Amino acid sequence: MRYGTTQLAGLPNRVTICEVGPRDGLQNESEILPVEVKVEFIERLVAAGHRVVESTSFVHPRWVPQLADAADVLQRVRRVDGVRYPVLVPNEKGLARALEQGVRDIAVFGSATETFAQRNLNHTLATQMEMFAPVVERAREAGLAVRGYLSMCWGDPWEGEVAVDQVVTVARRMMALGCTELSLGDTIGVATPGHVVALLDGLVAAGVPVEQIAVHFHDTYGQALANTLAALQQGVTTVDASAGGLGGCPYAKSATGNLATEDLVWQLNGLGIDTGIDLDKLVETSAWMAQQLGRPSPSAVVRALTS
Ligand code: HMG
Ligand code: MG
Repeated sequence: MRYGTTQLAGLPNRVTICEVGPRDGLQNESEILPVEVKVEFIERLVAAGHRVVESTSFVHPRWVPQLADAADVLQRVRRVDGVRYPVLVPNEKGLARALEQGVRDIAVFGSATETFAQRNLNHTLATQMEMFAPVVERAREAGLAVRGYLSMCWGDPWEGEVAVDQVVTVARRMMALGCTELSLGDTIGVATPGHVVALLDGLVAAGVPVEQIAVHFHDTYGQALANTLAALQQGVTTVDASAGGLGGCPYAKSATGNLATEDLVWQLNGLGIDTGIDLDKLVETSAWMAQQLGRPSPSAVVRALTS
């Protein structure tokens, strides 16, 4: 059943979805899935039309055992021309491991707050930048695209509200390292649309081009879609989402799943915004993944279309 489209003024014609299910989704699962299942997941996401699939992380395997098989996964995925398969890389060791697998897109991941820098990276706000600097420099020299994530942009479970100025200061440092894109993480999902607009305004006023900004909303409080719409109205055209709403961060208390890709695609389809994604194929993929994990998808759209 199709329900037609009605456009709203001030929105882009096309949105790039950065699919983070295989990384942000699976990093938080208590069960470690077999490599074959991860590979099939990535390939099905590509077959559903995704052109950016964040596939895994080259972090310390003790910190995130769920993704310790990163090299195996990348070796086995049949890579399709025109599709980007970014991976998370915290440090030079991670970059070396990623380059061995022919990776062309990486993401470093910083924190906007001191506590989360400590808990997620074993670093301070200052030393996380020292760790990233040679990674970004070498990756750029090798012609790679480098996303810079910034976590806890709107709130932190230990520090509470995070001031716009603080996020802008850390974001400018990330961009000064040479990141080609900045993804703003609402790691624990506490932002509402006004908070999103305030931070985007602050970043743009500080000289970060909106074309380089992506948004990464977790849906803990059910605000991710509203926040996305607010970001699109401000000129953002890259949105992170996770198939079936999988996800969370093992080092952030109260982080739940990301914005479900199906929920996002449903909204964008209704608004007549092109994503290149075949919603039916994506829903089939998330229903299959839910079977692998042994529990239903939290995505409202997956539930509606499979019931
Ligand atoms: P550390 O323990 O301080 O590491 O961890 P170190 O540099 O002191 O090294 C200790 C040992 O680890 C050494 O080995 C290194 O070689 C090894 P040893 O000499 O003892 O035998 N090592 C590595 N091995 C494999 N791969 C590596 C690596 N690095 C060091 N890359 C570190 C520091 C950054 C490594 C650690 O804290 C870490 O891996 N953290 C990752 C945590 C993580 O992945 N969190 C989830 C992703 S972030 C997220 O989800 C948020 C996001 O979605 C956005 C949002 O929602 O806000 C992106
Ligand atoms: Mg995340």
